[in-house]
Amino acid sequence: MKEPIGIFDSGVGGTSIWKEIRTLLPFERTIYLADSKNAPYGAKSKQQILELSVKNTELLLEKGCKLIVVACNTATTNAIDYLRAHYEVPFIGIEPAIKPAALLSKSKTVGVLATKGTLSSSLFHSTSEIHAHGITIVEQEGKGLVPLIEAGKAGSEETKALLRSYLEPMLASGIDHLVLGCTHYPYLIPILKELLPERVQVIDSGEAVARQTKAVLLKNTLENTSQTKERSEFYTNADLTILSSFLENSTDIHCSYLDF
Ligand code: SIN
Repeated sequence: MKEPIGIFDSGVGGTSIWKEIRTLLPFERTIYLADSKNAPYGAKSKQQILELSVKNTELLLEKGCKLIVVACNTATTNAIDYLRAHYEVPFIGIEPAIKPAALLSKSKTVGVLATKGTLSSSLFHSTSEIHAHGITIVEQEGKGLVPLIEAGKAGSEETKALLRSYLEPMLASGIDHLVLGCTHYPYLIPILKELLPERVQVIDSGEAVARQTKAVLLKNTLENTSQTKERSEFYTNADLTILSSFLENSTDIHCSYLDF
């Protein structure tokens, strides 16, 4: 099927997921919505996150998407059950990679950096209970990180100082794995590498989400069987220059402003 895969996020962070999908599925057309005007979702109520997720879903469906990736941990943990119950297309969500971190941890202590909206969700708690038996999960809200990344300041001293203050208590608790529970946070990996000791491994969900997207396309016979590289469309309701700075310059990539 030639119809596009839809991807939405509260802003530019989900482009980290789009990159993994693009690498694994280069012959799929994609449409990405960056709802930066409403970022961060993590500080909003469940009802607000639900309404924004419905708005994004409806727009992607209007554009003919055959499958939707909710490339935002906060929207996944708060809205994916509702979306799956109310729309026919398959939805792929992003859950913090607690399972692999718990399996790999030798210190039996794993850190999770995520938004308030994700950490307080029932899906996050049930995932932790199922996959992290005998493991201490050290939760840390990454307050303020998403707005800095949205402002194009992922590599700034301000971001580094804030991140350091969030890592200190987790390191003091003896974590040996750090789960990135927000799709914006992979853009912090260069700073994390500077700040974390070698014993701490960073885990994010991008590759696993791309593999899951491929598996669901195949299972539902939705894959595009043509062998030509397809175009990727990006829409933002905020600053186009910032969104473009997260993407490579390529003739297959088209970025536009859209008031949604
Ligand atoms: C946010 O908008 O607060 C972060 C998005 C995420 O949880 O991935």
